[in-house]
Amino acid sequence: MKNIKIALDGHSSCGKSTLAKQLAAHYGFLFIDTGAMYRAVTLYALKNGIVSFDDKIDEDKLRESMGKIEIAFKRVDNQNHTLLNGEDVEKEIRQLEVSKRVSKISAIAFVREKLVDFQRRISENSSVVMDGRDIGTVVFPNAEVKFFVTANADVRAERRYKELLEKGEKVDFEQIKQSVITRDKLDSEREVSPLRKADDAIVLDNSFMTREEQFEFAKNIIDKVLK
Ligand code: DC
Repeated sequence: MKNIKIALDGHSSCGKSTLAKQLAAHYGFLFIDTGAMYRAVTLYALKNGIVSFDDKIDEDKLRESMGKIEIAFKRVDNQNHTLLNGEDVEKEIRQLEVSKRVSKISAIAFVREKLVDFQRRISENSSVVMDGRDIGTVVFPNAEVKFFVTANADVRAERRYKELLEKGEKVDFEQIKQSVITRDKLDSEREVSPLRKADDAIVLDNSFMTREEQFEFAKNIIDKVLK
């Protein structure tokens, strides 16, 4: 069977990865979380003094470091974990310190080049469900199915807030909402591969959908394409 690419792009914290995981499990496809890759590079930059506390990025140092950054994924207790140079950083990459800076790092062209190349390579021999911002527009412009997932900002902030609370983190709702809004703006307005809906992507606004409804919506569309 031909390898199928399902692209899931959209705004921050709108449940893309939940849907991507459900779809990957249902169809037996590989799930690839590209946001985790940009987060891992951001974490590396934070840990190695490449991004300062006032958010200045030493681009020369980052360019030099790109060859030293190795990202991989591993299954732990049936969950996907991100490895940065062999270390499990799944928890750290989701923290607000990383979320606040990841848009700036992901706006850098040489960072995107390296990660897009990696995304294509790891998908070479499999059918994949890939979630990100530029999957349907840049990484796989010929993807068989493309979704553009969104939800209103309050709903998204609320979901992220609950998720972090459940993980035992001390979080402030307003701060999270601001981070979601700022990230949308930075992701959509950057020069290189901005977040935008591919012309042939299907919009999935899940503000008032349950996870199950969202899954059914996507599954119906994919089933038709796979027939
Ligand atoms: O999906 P996420 O929130 O974990 O992604 C983190 C950041 O990475 C997001 O703010 C934008 C960036 N990103 C990107 O620029 N391109 C992608 N394909 C995936 C994520």
